[in-house]
Amino acid sequence: MRTIKIFDTTLRDGEQSPGAAMNIQEKLQIAKQLARLGVDIIEAGFAITSPGDFEAIKTISGEVEGPVICSLARAKETDIKRAWEAIKDAPRKRIHTFHSTSDIHLKYQFRVGREEALKTSVEMVKLACSFVDDVQFSPMDATRTDLDYLCEVTEAVIEAGASTVNIPDTVGYTIPNEFGIMIKALRDRVKNIDNAVIAVHCHNDLGLAAANSLSAVLNGAGQIECTVNGIGERAGNCSLEEVVMAMRTRRDIFNADTNIISEEIMRSSKLVTKITGMSVQPNKAIVGANAFSHESGIHQDGLLKEKTTYEIITPETIGLNKTKFVLGKLSGRNAFRTRLGILGYALSDEEINSTFERFKKLADQKKEIFDEDLEALVSEGFTTVPETYSLVDMRISSGFHEKPTAVITLKTGDGVIEKTEHGDGPVDAIFKAITSITGTKSELVKYEVKAITGGTDALGEVVCSLEEDNRRVIGHGADTDVIIASAKAYVNALNKLAVRKK
Ligand code: KIV
Ligand code: ZN
Repeated sequence: MRTIKIFDTTLRDGEQSPGAAMNIQEKLQIAKQLARLGVDIIEAGFAITSPGDFEAIKTISGEVEGPVICSLARAKETDIKRAWEAIKDAPRKRIHTFHSTSDIHLKYQFRVGREEALKTSVEMVKLACSFVDDVQFSPMDATRTDLDYLCEVTEAVIEAGASTVNIPDTVGYTIPNEFGIMIKALRDRVKNIDNAVIAVHCHNDLGLAAANSLSAVLNGAGQIECTVNGIGERAGNCSLEEVVMAMRTRRDIFNADTNIISEEIMRSSKLVTKITGMSVQPNKAIVGANAFSHESGIHQDGLLKEKTTYEIITPETIGLNKTKFVLGKLSGRNAFRTRLGILGYALSDEEINSTFERFKKLADQKKEIFDEDLEALVSEGFTTVPETYSLVDMRISSGFHEKPTAVITLKTGDGVIEKTEHGDGPVDAIFKAITSITGTKSELVKYEVKAITGGTDALGEVVCSLEEDNRRVIGHGADTDVIIASAKAYVNALNKLAVRKK
């Protein structure tokens, strides 16, 4: 049985999804969850691209234990030095450098010949190896690269010290059979291939990223690059949960498995959804809301008789707990802490105290508090930002014959301010009143409301995305009253924008 390494790039390629930009604290929370999930390598960012990316990689390197922490770097001296500066505090670290190899990229984008690209790649791998033992090289657009040249580059970078060679399907162009043959050709034709791990990095433009990655594993690849929920550039990257569960469910075919703790999959998926604001389609494999719902009478009949008739994975395997555990307003701090522990949250005393306070407020409004509510409370804590603005009070009126009106009181740097505004609906009125107090000019690009659990007293969660001066942020708010949740989400987004502006 081989162990396939899982290289998670949610924080780098995943962040390249339009609108999925994350701040440092959010990246740190995801990185900690990825460590709990058991990924082998976290690509924490692309250090040279911005001070924020650099700081995020540095923070993760200093605070996240377990996985190897990696930074991406173009095959350029400045990039590689910056990547090294960002990762150097990590107990286990890797530099991932890349250079295009396809003629299309070399001719039209980089305007260099094959020889020069090869020479630069080798020199930059050597430079990266002077900083760290663990160096990965990617020949970008490999699937549209001449195979002889790809073999030549692969051999040369391994010779230069690369211990992983990653074969990217940068534009999501290949198909499983062709990609498998390519991986096998590299194994057969590159003399020193046994000195390196072959990795694959597939994009999902044709919906084949997971299938292509699995075909590569069948042909000798030892590392898969992927993201939680399959987020990433354009149509996204290979989805972590799909490849992991495919290998686990069909060990008989793959004769391979990963180090992933599958019970952490659902929690990771929800956290990434929450932080990026990118919802998962209901019919998405493994983590979609319908992935374990059986609608057809024949299927339900079979399931009642024997689960395996229609269920190839149990919901518990990915951390979906069917048996509901309920807390309420009489539950004490100990029960609360214990339940969070069972759910996998190791919070500090300070975090427990602040979450418990919010739990008590919620328990006053809602009789039964489910695990999903607890998870929402905890992740609300994860997404807190310094409060440039804080909501003090709000009153709303609307009706069949009444113009929706919001009176909002906010605490700002200039003191406590109250404003009244009308709108097309109560949410519109709230947002207008908040904007008129803060004087901000952001555009609302997304607004989404969902119920976290069932019932009319369910906690409603609002996600709203604001954009100003090319900066896009995602705000969250949860409350049993969706109008209040909307105001909280809007203020949360404005606070994030304020941080970004600074
Ligand atoms: O898609 C791609 O080619 C990449 C590389 C940087 C590995 O993301
Ligand atoms: Zn990519």
